[in-house]
Amino acid sequence: MERIAIGADHGGYALKNAIVQFLLAAGYPVEDVGTYGEDAVDYPDYAVQVARLVATGQADLGILVCGTGIGMSITANKVHGVRAAVATDSYMARMAREHNDANVLCLGGRVLGVGSALEVVQAFLQSRFAGDRHLRRIRKIQALETSEGR
Ligand code: RB5
Repeated sequence: MERIAIGADHGGYALKNAIVQFLLAAGYPVEDVGTYGEDAVDYPDYAVQVARLVATGQADLGILVCGTGIGMSITANKVHGVRAAVATDSYMARMAREHNDANVLCLGGRVLGVGSALEVVQAFLQSRFAGDRHLRRIRKIQALETSEGR
């Protein structure tokens, strides 16, 4: 089973807890970097922790939850080797893996209910990178990371 790193700010705290319960029940090893309460915190502090766990290979995939998923994705994508994608439905989650080889899923705790979010998580975890022409495109992203000094 893939090792999953997960984090959230206050906007994603409740949904994160539901996802952690789901993942543990399904047998996934989970590292939860917080936040662990409803007090307001800064989403970059959690995004960077999950992104670095994925980038260094300490986790296979990451899940980040804030109010919209947007701040988490912007931050996580600053970390070399991370491809973070916001998904609001199962199709986006599947495409993020199959076409974009995304390794971090970003969700909005103020966008999706628990049931919909868990469907998105399952689609993400069950999909695999399709390779082929998509690998050429990923290589171009990786070349940009190098040329842009990130
Ligand atoms: C926090 O209020 C909110 O800005 C944050 O959770 C997230 O939605 C940012 O992208």
